[in-house]
Amino acid sequence: MRPTQAEDHLAAAPPPVPRPVPPPGPSGPTAADGMSAGARGAPAAVTDVAAADADVPAAVGRVLDDVLAERLARARLMDPRFVRELAGPVGHFTRAGGKRTRSQLVWWSMRACGGADGTSADAALRIGAALELLQTCALVHDDVMDGSTLRRGRPAFHTGVRERYAGAASPARVARFGEAAAILAGDLALAWADDLVAETALAPWTATVVRRLWSDMRTEMVAGQYLDLQGQITAERSLPRALRSACLKSALYSVERPLALGAAVAGADAVTTAALCSAGRCAGLAFQLRDDLDDVFGDPRRTGKAVGGDIREGKPTYLVAVALARAEAASDRVALAVLEGALGDGELTPEGLDDVREVLVRTGARATVETRIGRLTAQGLRHVDGAPLDPDAGGRLRRLLTAAAGTAAPAEESCGPEVREVRR
Ligand code: IPE
Ligand code: IPE
Ligand code: MG
Ligand code: MG
Ligand code: MG
Repeated sequence: MRPTQAEDHLAAAPPPVPRPVPPPGPSGPTAADGMSAGARGAPAAVTDVAAADADVPAAVGRVLDDVLAERLARARLMDPRFVRELAGPVGHFTRAGGKRTRSQLVWWSMRACGGADGTSADAALRIGAALELLQTCALVHDDVMDGSTLRRGRPAFHTGVRERYAGAASPARVARFGEAAAILAGDLALAWADDLVAETALAPWTATVVRRLWSDMRTEMVAGQYLDLQGQITAERSLPRALRSACLKSALYSVERPLALGAAVAGADAVTTAALCSAGRCAGLAFQLRDDLDDVFGDPRRTGKAVGGDIREGKPTYLVAVALARAEAASDRVALAVLEGALGDGELTPEGLDDVREVLVRTGARATVETRIGRLTAQGLRHVDGAPLDPDAGGRLRRLLTAAAGTAAPAEESCGPEVREVRR
């Protein structure tokens, strides 16, 4: 098997989700298409495409400002404390944001597929903003489930609530309240994200595709998070299982689906969409494998997250699965003892984590994951290069995918015929 095929095989861990079948007649949005019913009352196209091109995060931020101001004004009529302590912080967390990877991917995918009109641009920014709200839900809930106390360099949502309410009741009850508040905060962010997509003006067929993508994406993420947690509690740490949850919990909603959403908004044809999805699958998996490496080897000043959480929680990551497989194959009892002793040990000391790092290096697991990230990224870029994309926007996509995988851009990428073989 050629390496490029191997990477696609690896990246395609979960089965592809079928796209909706287009209605008979010309497919994709046309000038004659009416806007979706859900879009009635949505604001007319206002986006300055050139301004958004120049600074996508700022353009997404402007949409979030408008949407959040309106939601918070309505929430204020409901209850001021709710706004002060829950809805306001949800808005603030989303507005402050992180790297804005997903919303930038939607934008540049739309642009790379030839989207240039105000309506497509509005839709891409609104869907990008909705993804940022979905990300708020994902992160706030994830930190509760993973017992993480640091997010984006600040206390995680539930930790912040716990700190604010310290002394109001016993520490256990206050901690439980913090987690309960975070569940509600994530729910609110998800509801606002769904509203934003539903209220986005789209041609009927585009609306059908976007709704299906959006729905599958949310479900995939829940499926992946469940597999991640179930593998943690059962210590099921096989390689295929690790790849499957990485793909479902992260690669799809972080990269592949944002690219597909941008392509849908631009009315891209099936071949271009499939190439972008293949690129997103590879780069998305590379993104999560990088995140797993960063969890153990990264600097919290850069990641904004605590180090070693995956080991202390006993997460079934690909990195750990490779190390276990290597240690078993080599009958390396010392390495196995270090790993088995550390995985799931919430009290693991920094010295204990150093021992795990040493094992991950010595077994070759770290290097294997690095190599895998490099190959996945290169394969993702080949898929991009093989698609008939706008050259400038395609270049921006390349850079975004490379940055998401945390790799330096390979100097030169081939554009061989295998790139055009649509595998999904
Ligand atoms: C973090 O995603 C969650 C994962 C899927 C690994 P990001 O690394 O994109 O987080 P932010 O939005 O930039 O903070
Ligand atoms: C998170 O995966 C995936 C989602 C948020 C859906 P991780 O648990 O690895 O993400 P981090 O490392 O906490 O950001
Ligand atoms: Mg986590
Ligand atoms: Mg997690
Ligand atoms: Mg992680």
